[in-house]
Amino acid sequence: MEIQDYKQYPHTILPETTHDEFARQEFVKSLKLHLATNVSPKNQVIYNQVVKPKFEKNHGRFPKDRHEVRQEMNQQPYYRLWSSMLRSSQEMMWSSCQIPVARQLKKLIAASKQDGVKLGSLKLNPDLEIPKYHSAVDIHCQPGAYHTEVCEDDVAAGAIYDSAVYVYAMGRMGPFNNDMGASQCEYIKAEYPDLQPKRILDLGCAVGHSTLPYVDAFPDAEIYAIDVAAPMLRYAHTRAESLGKKVHFSQQNAEKLDFEDGYFDLIVSHIFLHETSAKALRNSLSECYRLLSDGGLMVHSETPPYKDMDEYEAFILDWDTYNNNEPFWGYIHDLDIDDMVSEAGFNPSKNFEALVPSAYEAAEAKRTYLFQGGDFGGGGIWYLWGCRK
Ligand SMILES: C[S@@+](CC[C@H](N)C(=O)[O-])C[C@H]1O[C@@H](n2cnc3c(N)ncnc32)[C@H](O)[C@@H]1O
Repeated sequence: MEIQDYKQYPHTILPETTHDEFARQEFVKSLKLHLATNVSPKNQVIYNQVVKPKFEKNHGRFPKDRHEVRQEMNQQPYYRLWSSMLRSSQEMMWSSCQIPVARQLKKLIAASKQDGVKLGSLKLNPDLEIPKYHSAVDIHCQPGAYHTEVCEDDVAAGAIYDSAVYVYAMGRMGPFNNDMGASQCEYIKAEYPDLQPKRILDLGCAVGHSTLPYVDAFPDAEIYAIDVAAPMLRYAHTRAESLGKKVHFSQQNAEKLDFEDGYFDLIVSHIFLHETSAKALRNSLSECYRLLSDGGLMVHSETPPYKDMDEYEAFILDWDTYNNNEPFWGYIHDLDIDDMVSEAGFNPSKNFEALVPSAYEAAEAKRTYLFQGGDFGGGGIWYLWGCRK
């Protein structure tokens, strides 16, 4: 199948779209791009030219942090209009991706159940308790979040997520939505050439967008991926098989995994940790420590922390905390890496942070700088942090 880089790659279980369904998704994608490139930047002009001078006049100083900026910007009609449009675009994104999935759900489930020789495996655990922090809120407004099942062998959440990520990233993560994983692989190979992992684990893999690049980057390693949500994993397994990638998926909570101590040489995650609670984050990092072999490495991709940003940039990136059902987003962006790794048992002198260029951008030279709330693409760069055991 030819790869067209303006469209998602049509693997076996990707929901098909009618002309109108595709047009609706394209509209949302264009709306998001328009908001990011043409509408969002004016917020900063208003902040610099109106809000900041007024604040200084009233308080004798500039706003000290994102919270003070938010209080002021919330009074600005322009910001309120942009914010409500961004929130609407998010809701429109989910519904534009739900409609095709609802129409062809039986076919998608049938595709996930096809027999045949399998490269990898899928192990589900119907007794696994879904964490409260996960089920209490429709994370980033995805209706029913990741785990909800409305019928037997449901794959709907995975199918909706796969299409929606393409719309959300405005196509800037490539036809396989795999830019984060691919960029992280390139970083690990360049920075840790001595690391020859025998087994790699991806935490909170969702439908495996970021997992699959590890199959190609580390052809001698066994690749494992876990998630709590069964509909994501069923979909992920079928998708990986249809793309010819061998991955062992299992339904587990990253806070307490069933692998033995020291089983992995490389443990990775991609935009996973910011969706877990403070307690789950600590437990998951302790599990990373337990599961890594001596000299093993953990690497996590997130959007950049607020400490290196000015108060306006932190405020705009913090939009998701208040407007996009991301309750832990702001919290994790404030955490100190030394503290996190030490608490998990690692030696903090072996930790690192890095801003890594997008592999897709480097390959395609296509992405332009965009950075606003609701934009985890981060404008052609990814923020990684981690620690070696
Ligand atoms: C934003 S998605 C991750 C995206 C994915 N890593 C990627 O790069 O495409 C977050 C995933 O974490 C999963 N998740 C949340 N809490 C979890 C936990 N405690 N253990 C395992 N998975 C969890 C969710 O079900 C969801 O699929």
